[in-house]
Amino acid sequence: MMKYTWGLVFIMLLFSCKRDPDFIAADGHTHTHYNLNIPAGLPAMTIPANNPMTMEGVALGRKLFYDNILSANNTMNCGSCHQLKNYFVDSNKQFSTGVELVAGTRNSMSLFNIGYASKFFWDGGAADLESQVVGPITDPIELHETLSNVVAKIQADPLYPSLFKKAFGTDVVSSKLIIQSIAQFERTLISANSKFDQWKRGEATLNTQETRGMNLYLGEGKGDCVHCHGYGSTFTDFEFRNTGLDSIPVDLGRARVTLLKTDEGKFKTPSLRNVEMTAPYMHDGRFTNLRQVLEHYNKNFHYTENLAAEMKVVVKNRLTETDIDDIIAFLNTLTDHEAINNPNFDKP
Ligand code: HEC
Ligand code: HEC
Repeated sequence: MMKYTWGLVFIMLLFSCKRDPDFIAADGHTHTHYNLNIPAGLPAMTIPANNPMTMEGVALGRKLFYDNILSANNTMNCGSCHQLKNYFVDSNKQFSTGVELVAGTRNSMSLFNIGYASKFFWDGGAADLESQVVGPITDPIELHETLSNVVAKIQADPLYPSLFKKAFGTDVVSSKLIIQSIAQFERTLISANSKFDQWKRGEATLNTQETRGMNLYLGEGKGDCVHCHGYGSTFTDFEFRNTGLDSIPVDLGRARVTLLKTDEGKFKTPSLRNVEMTAPYMHDGRFTNLRQVLEHYNKNFHYTENLAAEMKVVVKNRLTETDIDDIIAFLNTLTDHEAINNPNFDKP
């Protein structure tokens, strides 16, 4: 009998652990914690203390992310240029067009694992995910809407105020809360179940070519990709660098934010997870395939003033055609084929 009682207690404990604990926010409203499920291949994510993740906040942010209400003529939303089926980039486009059908000058960026980044946009122009959201809403060549119009439209909607009440304890819509909820949703967009991750967990094997490619990726004086894109985890260190794309940078990149001469032509190092699926490449989408990217690193880069130190020391033409094939084979093991089928990431 005793045994059964303990069994029951155990089951009850299990149940209470599995259930998301509720918490009472300062406004006296009950919210449900959102438990981020971080897979083995990624580190813990730092969530800002002033925007804790809740089930209600994430659900609201997800609805807003996919809602045309965010744009000037109600025709576009965040998902228009960050499409789940395309690993959160725009469908094979060099430049996305916004509500006025005007194209920008930079290639769309994937939003997978965005919660790990510390600066946003190719030039790091936004310091946190919350302040990032304002950019696309108000940008004349993106959603081209004013924050006050967005707030007014959402406030007038028959459904939204009650969702804000659930998420934040108030039905008074504000740009701050719009931004906070979208950022909460973006932090849930995690992807780390590629063949590489499965191999790391001992569930898959890398073939000879992939293994060779991995060693070239890691090899100093060879691929030497690891110095900037890292190995494992997010496959980037998020730092800004000039990779010698142009002898005189067309887009000043990081220098547009810092106004420093030494930052001209520097761009955020992108993650290489799912890179197979996110062509075209680089901040301006100038390369249509990975082979062109590899040829750039192998021989086509320019010795610009701000060229990254790692690239100044490598010898041009160090990689053979086979080396390039093998590095690409390794990069292809970083694709998480399941991530785009996650129903929680899709339009609600
Ligand atoms: C018209 C297309 C378009 C729309 C609409 C759009 N984006 Fe973007 N997004 C881009 C482009 C292009 C970039 C790169 C811009 C740059 O670096 O200057 C970008 C960059 C980002 C980044 C930075 C990623 C990184 O790794 O630093 C985030 C986050 C983001 N967008 C989220 C959003 C959200 C949230 C919305 C809706 C409020 C949105 N985007 C709407 C095209 C778009
Ligand atoms: C000196 C640091 C550095 C090294 C070394 C380096 N990268 Fe990069 N990588 C970057 C930066 C910075 C960018 C963005 C450049 C831009 O858009 O101006 C980038 C962009 C890329 C992109 C485009 C991704 C996208 O989403 O557009 C790919 C693919 C890539 N690198 C692969 C590699 C491979 C493979 C190697 C090794 C052969 C390598 N990189 C070596 C810093 C580096």
